[in-house]
Amino acid sequence: MDYFNYRGAELYAEELKVADLALKYGTPLYIYSKATLERHVRAFEEALKGRPHLVCYAVKANSNLAILELMASMGVGFDVVSAGELSRVLRAGGRASDCVYSGVGKRRDEIAFALKAGIRCLNLESEAELEAVSAVARELNVVAPVAVRVNPDVDARTHPSISTGLKQNKFGIAFERAYAVYERIAADPHLKVSGIDCHIGSQMTSGAPIVEATQKLLDLYGRLRTLGISIDHIDIGGGLGVTYGDETPPSPYEYMQAVLSKIGDPELAVFVEPGRAMVANAGILVTETLYLKDQGDKRFAIVDAGMNDLIRPALYNSWMNIIEVQKSADKSEKRLYDVVGPVCESDDFLGRERRLAVKEGDFLAVRGAGAYGMAMASTYNSRPLCAEIMVDGDRVHVIRDRQSLEDLWRGEHLLNGE
Ligand code: LLP
Repeated sequence: MDYFNYRGAELYAEELKVADLALKYGTPLYIYSKATLERHVRAFEEALKGRPHLVCYAVKANSNLAILELMASMGVGFDVVSAGELSRVLRAGGRASDCVYSGVGKRRDEIAFALKAGIRCLNLESEAELEAVSAVARELNVVAPVAVRVNPDVDARTHPSISTGLKQNKFGIAFERAYAVYERIAADPHLKVSGIDCHIGSQMTSGAPIVEATQKLLDLYGRLRTLGISIDHIDIGGGLGVTYGDETPPSPYEYMQAVLSKIGDPELAVFVEPGRAMVANAGILVTETLYLKDQGDKRFAIVDAGMNDLIRPALYNSWMNIIEVQKSADKSEKRLYDVVGPVCESDDFLGRERRLAVKEGDFLAVRGAGAYGMAMASTYNSRPLCAEIMVDGDRVHVIRDRQSLEDLWRGEHLLNGE
């Protein structure tokens, strides 16, 4: 459920016509719906009500300050993977004590930054990292709260590029080693056992894999308790999928219920790190059709948004729904198009073989673009990063200015140093 709906032939973002917004703010343009974001936050909070918990929004999905600000104002914590993400959270009014820090390659300066800021938990992904965290904590004379990110060797049954919980993936510490690693942590005066963590993959459309992974974590939790090592939270990571086309993922409530039904101890806090499920369907990317081109057996709609603005189709061959911002009355105009961008790469497409009624100058919208859209955008082909706005009822907040041409080379220098 989101708040991008047609009224008659016109696509609306909450109370505003998308076509008007595209004319006023230019294209390509990311538009977010505040009510949709709030709805998704509430869905996770409701699903965990009555249990000690922390919803840690995965900042990587969309790190715009205003989105982080909204989440923080609703009591949400964060999953960060770099000092940059943690800095954004702090800038947006979030607290480090509500943040967990994941990632296989945390630098020592990043570990120090997180510890000084008062991070809630560092999720360790290797024994070498354990040593680094211990050394940094000793230098700072603090005790670092840590969890082991366990690699449970569970198949998330998703696209191979976004599967993270199998042995062959670089993430986490092998399940068989985890017990010994906890013993090392417990014996280290500069480390404190806080939690037990996993993240097995993204865009999961069934709850079964996460239930399987949770069971493995709980087995380990039980063993650790008998050893006298206490754990204050279990973090099941992110990964709940969304509907881009015909997927039918469980609701946050169903997903969390499946997990919670396995967790007996009512004192054990449950952390979850949703990214996509929070923001994907709260955002669209609006683009203008520049040219139509007929190549005999193929038709192209060439639009002004490219893989630099939204890389998911090019990178993962992801199917994202492309819709007309103003529907044409005449259905017979519908034709099959490859919707492609202006970037000089054959893989620069937003969608292939889409049935659309479109003329030059018409706006199209890519749905589900709120997650891993702008967050993965680049200036490839020296295309300025596009603008982002957030609609709140009939009001608009510009949450990112479109980059200017000068912005493109900010920080670069000619050979004379200028
Ligand atoms: N926690 C950790 C440790 C993660 O690595 C991720 C995502 C999440 C949470 C959030 O997962 P989500 O709830 O969003 O599925 N660029 C790809 C997705 C990469 C996901 C990376 N890790 C895409 O566009 O599909």
